[in-house]
Amino acid sequence: MAATRNSHLDDTFYQPADGFFAANSKVGLTYDDITLATLYSDILPRNTQLDTTLAEGLHLNIPVVSADMDTVTESRMAIAMALNGGLGIIHYNMAERDQLSQVSRVKYHVQGLIQDPIKIAPDQLIGDVLELIEQKRFGFSTFPVVDARGKLMGLLSGHVVKPRYASKKVVEALTPRKQVHTITKKELGKDPIARADKFFTEHLGIHKLLVVDEDDHLHGLITMSDVERITQERKAQFKPARDAQFRLVCAAALSATRNAFGELDRERILSHVGALVERGVDAVAVSTAHGHSKGVGDTVKVLRDAFPKLPIIAGNVTSAAGVEYLADCGANAIKIGQGPGSICTTRIVAGVGIPQMTALYVCARAAAKKKVSILADGGITKSGDIVKALTLSQAVICGGMFAGCTEAPGEVMEIGGKLYKQYRGMGSLAAMKAGSAARYGHEKADSTRKLAAEGIEALKESAGTVDRVLAQLIGGIQSGMGYLGAANLEQLRQKARYIRVSPAGQREAAPHDVVELKTGAN
Ligand code: XMP
Repeated sequence: MAATRNSHLDDTFYQPADGFFAANSKVGLTYDDITLATLYSDILPRNTQLDTTLAEGLHLNIPVVSADMDTVTESRMAIAMALNGGLGIIHYNMAERDQLSQVSRVKYHVQGLIQDPIKIAPDQLIGDVLELIEQKRFGFSTFPVVDARGKLMGLLSGHVVKPRYASKKVVEALTPRKQVHTITKKELGKDPIARADKFFTEHLGIHKLLVVDEDDHLHGLITMSDVERITQERKAQFKPARDAQFRLVCAAALSATRNAFGELDRERILSHVGALVERGVDAVAVSTAHGHSKGVGDTVKVLRDAFPKLPIIAGNVTSAAGVEYLADCGANAIKIGQGPGSICTTRIVAGVGIPQMTALYVCARAAAKKKVSILADGGITKSGDIVKALTLSQAVICGGMFAGCTEAPGEVMEIGGKLYKQYRGMGSLAAMKAGSAARYGHEKADSTRKLAAEGIEALKESAGTVDRVLAQLIGGIQSGMGYLGAANLEQLRQKARYIRVSPAGQREAAPHDVVELKTGAN
C-alpha cells in the first residue's frame, strides 16, 4: 500500500539520523535548527506509550527527569515527578545528612498520607486555632491534638472550631483519643490507599484516619477526599514510577569530592552513597560540568565496584569518547549537554560545548555500542524540543521548565504584579558558594582566586504545579509521536527523519503576524 511506504522524493529530502547528521557534520545543530518530518500514522497520540528504561532496575513511565539543581529538585519536586511517572534527582548543594533525609522523604512518601500534619496542643485556645487558620490560610479546620511528646490525645473537629467557642481550651473541646479512628503504619501495608479506601467505606461518615506507631505517637493523617482523588488518578494513563517495594523512585546527585590533599575522597563518597542506598535511593548521578575527566571516571569506578547493581548516571559529556569512557568506568546512563541550559554560560565563559542535537547524535551512536542510555540535559524550552531529543535519547533532563513550579524550592516573589521564583545555574557564583563549586572544578573554600562563574542567577515566572506543566509536555510528546506514527519511544527513535530549518523557517514555526489572544486559558 502506497500510504505506508516512504516515497523516494521524501527520502531525498527527509533523512534518517545517520544520513542527516553525517551530511551536517561541519555544523553544530540544536533543537530549533531542525524539524521532524511526518510519517504515515495509524497511532492516536493518546495511545502512545512513554515508558523508558535508563538502567536495569530504573524504569520510568514518562521520559522526563528534573535537574539536580538547588532551585529545582528537592523532595517535593522529586515526589511530584515520580507521581507523574518521571524521576527527580535531588541536588547536592546541601549537607550530606540533609540529602539523606530528602531521599527518605521521597522513599517514605505515601501518597495521600500527610506525614507531618499540623498538630494542636491541648492547652491552646480555640481562638488560637482560629487565628492560625486565618494566618496560614488553611482550607481545613480539623486537627489532631498531641501532647508534648507527640502522643495522640484526640482530634479537634471542625464542628467546634468556631468563634463562639474561642475562649475554650482545646482539651475541653476535643474528641477524646478513645473515639478517634487510628491505624498503625504496619496495618496500612503495601497499598495504604486501598487500605484507607476500605476503611472509609466500612466507617460511614468518618472522613479522617490517623496513623500512629505502637506507642501511639502520631505519624500521619489520611483524608477521604485525598483517597478519592488518588483512586481517580490511578486510572490515569501514566502511573507513578515506583520501585519493587511500591515506593516512589528517587535519585541523588553527588560530585567527585576531594579530600584536603586534592585526592578523590573515596571513603566519604562510599559512606555517603552507602547511606543513600540504605535509604532506598534508586540511582546516583555523578554530576559535573566535565564528565570526561579522571575525577568523574574514578568516582564511577569506585561506586561500580562497591555497588554492582546500583544504577549510576554520570556526566556531562558531549563526545563519543566521553560516553565510551564513562560507560567503561561503569555508568549506566550518561548525561549529554555542555552549555545548552537556560542559565548556562559555559560556552560564553569557556568557549566550550556542542549544540544539543549534534551532541545527542554523536553520543547516541557511542551509547548504543556500549549498551548504555543517554539523557538529553538542558536547553529544553518546549515540548517539541523533547520530541526531537527523544529521537536520539532515552529521556530528557529539564531545569528551567520546572523551576517556576510550586514544588521547586524557594519562595514565590511578586514583581510588578507578576509572580516569579528564583532559578540559578549550579555554576553561578551564588550556587558555587553554597557548595556546588566542585561540579565546575573549583574549590568552595578557594578564597585565593576568584571562581569563574559558568551560570547566571535568574527568575522564572511562576508556572503552577508540576502536574500541570507535565500534562502540557506529555500532551506535546504524544502529539509528536502521533505525527511520526510511533507507538512507543523505541519506534520514535527508529522512525525519525530530519531536515534543517532556515532562519525564515524558524520564524514560520512560531505564531507570526497575529496578536495572540488567550481566551481559553484557565
Ligand atoms: P535548562 O535549560 O533545563 O538546563 O534550564 C538545566 C541544565 O543546565 C545544566 N546546568 C548548568 N550548566 N552552568 C552550565 O553551564 C550552570 O551554572 C549550570 N547549572 C545547571 C545542568 O546540566 C542542568 O540539568
